Amino acid sequence: MCGIVGYVGEQSAESVVVEGLRRLEYRGYDSAGVVLVDDGRLVGDKRAGKLANLDKALAEAPLPRSTIGIGHTRWATHGPPTDHNAHPHRGQQGRVAVVHNGIIENFAVLRAELEGSGAELLSDTDTEVAAHLLEREVLAGCTLTEAMQAVARRLEGAFTLVAVDAEDDTRVVAARRNSPLVVGLGEGENFLASDVAAFIGHTRQALELGQDQVVTITRDAVEVSDFSGAPAEGKEYHVDWDLTAAEKGGFDWFMRKEIFEQPRAVADSLLGRHDDTGRLQLDEIRMSEDELRDVDKIIITACGTAFYAGLVAKYAIEHWTRIPCEVELAHEFRYRDPILTRDTLVVAISQSGETADTLMAIRHAKEQRAKVLAICNTNGSTIPRESDAVIYTHAGPEIGVASTKGFTTQLVACYLLGLFLAQVRGTRFGDEIAAVVDELAAMPDRLQQVLDDAESVYGLARELEGARSVLFLGRHAGYPVALEGALKLKELAYIHAEGFAAGELKHGPIALIEPGMPVFCIVPPRGRDFLHDKMVSGIQEVRARGARTIVVADEGDTSVEPYADVLLRVPRSSTLLQPLAAVLPLQLFACELATVKGHDVDQPRNLAKSVTVE
Ligand code: M6R
Repeated sequence: MCGIVGYVGEQSAESVVVEGLRRLEYRGYDSAGVVLVDDGRLVGDKRAGKLANLDKALAEAPLPRSTIGIGHTRWATHGPPTDHNAHPHRGQQGRVAVVHNGIIENFAVLRAELEGSGAELLSDTDTEVAAHLLEREVLAGCTLTEAMQAVARRLEGAFTLVAVDAEDDTRVVAARRNSPLVVGLGEGENFLASDVAAFIGHTRQALELGQDQVVTITRDAVEVSDFSGAPAEGKEYHVDWDLTAAEKGGFDWFMRKEIFEQPRAVADSLLGRHDDTGRLQLDEIRMSEDELRDVDKIIITACGTAFYAGLVAKYAIEHWTRIPCEVELAHEFRYRDPILTRDTLVVAISQSGETADTLMAIRHAKEQRAKVLAICNTNGSTIPRESDAVIYTHAGPEIGVASTKGFTTQLVACYLLGLFLAQVRGTRFGDEIAAVVDELAAMPDRLQQVLDDAESVYGLARELEGARSVLFLGRHAGYPVALEGALKLKELAYIHAEGFAAGELKHGPIALIEPGMPVFCIVPPRGRDFLHDKMVSGIQEVRARGARTIVVADEGDTSVEPYADVLLRVPRSSTLLQPLAAVLPLQLFACELATVKGHDVDQPRNLAKSVTVE
């Protein structure tokens, strides 16, 4: 939520900052703005709406060249998305400007205090109080770094702040608490951003910051302190992907590109996870085998698509390990006072590693002394850093707001975790585990086969452009796939879509079925015939009431043919691994339907990629 950029160096700060905002626009696109330091004054522009509006304004009224500046792309929390609520915000005298990601929870008290002493605040945002407070410190003689330390001590809530001072063209200063911030380390230039994507075209060396730290960048140095001013250190790392990964590569949308990247993302997420003898090794897990043997309950916590990956994981983990496994929405988790002990393993799944709800859930789990393992795609992000253990997925950057390769690689990580626990605890024989690992290794080719037939899904989407409501049915591991298919359609095509466990239909939802209503049915493979046959009965039930059935089924499953108005084939897989392939037609369908409806697929309305507020 909100993308922020800071730059100091030799290049045009306007170009570097605006380009950085373009790569961060997935984080919020309600408004955008930039401020540069120019010869003792601040110059800039800010506009409601997407970055294109700012681009246009800057083209019409160019800013003077400057080599130091900050910028922001907003997902609105306090105040509607208007020009005057857009960031950066300035202090009373226009000497200090600041951009902010997060929520300053005590802003009302601070605002009253400022107004009581004569300040005139111009926006509805929480951010503007920080600009005024910073400026007051600077006017009292502090450096911008000292001012940031002092102000950060007064703020409550979640914030990343990045600021410049008109009378100091050498430094950009930032503070972070519970919101993302990373430093890009260049030669004669340095960068600050919510995400490495903002500066990956300039440097792949980055510095990860801890909580409650202030960082000052100049052209040649980076200094980190805590909020009291005591020196602190960040952790340097190399980003293992480059600019091409953050570009569309000929696709119309990032989302479509990311759908097609899934065979590679799944393969990369499996790399190096077993030794020559076929035994799984998850070295990065950082928990001893004894600790893993002691686990007597698993609670998976996540939001959105990651939550659905967790629902699939429950079926696999319980089956392979016999450890009871609950799955809980992260924003509900701590409020229900879950029963946690030292032997509870809490698994937090998050593509971004910054989702505030999931972060708060793991903090609660740690307070209760449970062990926390993160499954995450973003190196150096907060959730893995605060967890006891981590399994990184290797999907590469996911920029489309709708998660696709994030989901399939999370499934891979969950399968690996379940199999590893089974290996450590001896609940499955080595050859059984090796057979699943072999099947996982075969999945990238199977995913590719589904993608090779994308055109038939696109044709269906074009045909259903006018659909007002679409249902998705599944059973067992296919049920979360149905939920995920419905979520994709809601967030991209803005039409009513719901996922149901097929067995639940007759308990109420079947009343929704109207003649011609499209109903996707995810059919489990044969092999667990009782499950398969029950799903086929569910299809018959909706068809008997006039639904148009779109059946996703294994190649070779002829038994479904009489009940399918449309048949989408996926390569035959085992029941537990089928979600990897079965979700692909649903992703393709949502992407294409949103495209034909003329929606912005990468930036759906009201959403942001990384939800860093609770
Ligand atoms: O970064 P996270 O995996 O923690 O994000 C969780 C959800 O916000 C995310 O999956 C969201 O539901 C996506 N927009 C779904 O496509």
